[in-house]
Amino acid sequence: MQLDVVTLFPQWFDWFRSQRHVTNAFAEGHELRTLNPREHTPLSGAQVDDTPFGGGAGMVLRVDVMDAALRAFYGTDPIELKTERRVIALTPGGRVLDDAYVDELAAEPAITLLCGRYEGFDERIVQHFASDTLSVGRYVLAGGELAAMVVADAVLRKLPGALGHAESAVEESFSAALEGNPEYPHYTRPAEYRGWSVPSVLLSGHHAEIENWRRTRSRERGGS
Ligand code: ADE
Repeated sequence: MQLDVVTLFPQWFDWFRSQRHVTNAFAEGHELRTLNPREHTPLSGAQVDDTPFGGGAGMVLRVDVMDAALRAFYGTDPIELKTERRVIALTPGGRVLDDAYVDELAAEPAITLLCGRYEGFDERIVQHFASDTLSVGRYVLAGGELAAMVVADAVLRKLPGALGHAESAVEESFSAALEGNPEYPHYTRPAEYRGWSVPSVLLSGHHAEIENWRRTRSRERGGS
């Protein structure tokens, strides 16, 4: 997958790039690139945003700046770009991210995440350049960068090879394998600690019973 992030703060992603499941994903040929609109703005003084028409606090990312940045980076009109790859505007009011949305994105060959800052985007960016919107929850972040990292983290770890052998993204919380329920509880050594013992079935070696116990706990946690 080629995952591109359009952000005024590309350096934020340097730390993210160094995380193990992310470096694993890179080793498998996946990419995470950043594009800074400030480097492509046609406006003087590296301007990228402006005050909102109609008044109000904060600044709004300009549509002409986003147009120029996407055009310079991809060499195509951003109106066309969204027919070639998913272009996702990160915004608190967008489609809320859940496991099904992550699966949908993990199946894409190429995604571009647009990070808003301050008061967000000029709405024409969302209307004309984005194929989708995405919210990481119904609260407002100072910008889309942390939301982009949430998306990148959740998507990249689903890709084959990103997690170690011992881990798997198939049977985990909210997955289809667990019927959308939260994951069952995990335990490790010591089997007894301060009188708190591990459920004996997990020490029994009976795989079918363990499986059954885990399914039941998962369903309980999901309220069914
Ligand atoms: N930008 C600001 N807040 C956000 C949120 N909750 N989700 C996605 N992008 C955002």
